[in-house]
Amino acid sequence: MTSIGELRRRTLEALTRPSYSISNKDMLLLNDNANLFGVNPAVEEVARSYDFARLWAYPSENSDALRERIASEFGLSADEVIVGNGSDEILDIASKCFINPGDVFCSPTPTFSMYKFYARLHLARISEKMLREDFSLDPAQLIEDRSKLTALCQPNNPTAVLFDAQAVKKVLDESYGIVMLDEAYAEFCGSSMMNEVMAAEHAIDVRTFSKAYGLAGLRIGYAVSRKEVIDELRSVRTPFGLNSFAESVAIRAMDNQAWVRDVVSEVKSEMTYVRPKLEALGFEVYPSDCNFLLCKAPSPSPALVSALRAEGVAIRDCNSYPLLENHVRITMAPRPMLDALLEKLERLVRGGSG
Ligand SMILES: Cc1ncc(COP(=O)(O)O)c(C=O)c1O
Repeated sequence: MTSIGELRRRTLEALTRPSYSISNKDMLLLNDNANLFGVNPAVEEVARSYDFARLWAYPSENSDALRERIASEFGLSADEVIVGNGSDEILDIASKCFINPGDVFCSPTPTFSMYKFYARLHLARISEKMLREDFSLDPAQLIEDRSKLTALCQPNNPTAVLFDAQAVKKVLDESYGIVMLDEAYAEFCGSSMMNEVMAAEHAIDVRTFSKAYGLAGLRIGYAVSRKEVIDELRSVRTPFGLNSFAESVAIRAMDNQAWVRDVVSEVKSEMTYVRPKLEALGFEVYPSDCNFLLCKAPSPSPALVSALRAEGVAIRDCNSYPLLENHVRITMAPRPMLDALLEKLERLVRGGSG
């Protein structure tokens, strides 16, 4: 019988999707930067009057109503917006759309690992550029390879801070190819470079409802760019990609900016609470413009993270990233969850089992 290995697409050899998901529902999930302050109330509000009996019908092919709502939020036209099944879908279709086999894909490292995965899936030649020791960006490095597609995360996951806006603008304005600016955490830092993206010739601003909007489970992301770029992205996307319930919820959620603002202020206040407590345990805690903290652990992070996992708390080990030996990433959460983390850390760190 032919083995599955023989049947597998040859160009996919040695490519495995990074996997971080944890199926244990009892685990405290401080590892994936979802919104632990709760689900967006738009879900229940929409569910109350939603016509579920209409779910036999296909949704709008390109999520027109949501694209209109997003466009009106940012003073754009719906032709300048594309919606995806999570922003992950947008990252995938950008690679699918613009990368020929062998084209250069460029991104700084460390950053969100899925950019590189999608680029490899579409057979790009990967050019990774190391961030400086202080996690700042050298824009000239990102431009020099004339890459076909460049991915930049602003603020950057996992280093948690904004890159200098002038450095990002240089990349947007002077890159040869398409630049994807992933602003998944923009709501937390209160600033966005969407205007600079729209002013650039070939740039895409990628956003998500998974973080500040508290809707990761519904898988809703979007991107804005010039119409010519959006038309290209749409040409390779699966039709009906977003389900109609998710579309209605996203529209309602966008109408309730007060809820998002409350989440952001709770994240900030819990960050202020937990930062000195982590420092007292020996963690070096970095500044953050996101809903998570990057910290250097006082003991080897792989052992600490797995000991915590055994106690029911998941945080992200960043040890394998360049520049981040023994670093961990912790998603902000309501006080009782942070206290549960601190209590376990206290024992593990002081007890020396990390
Ligand atoms: C920087 C960044 N971009 C994109 C994503 C993917 O988000 P989504 O849930 O919209 O696919 C994440 C998720 O962690 C992320 O951290």
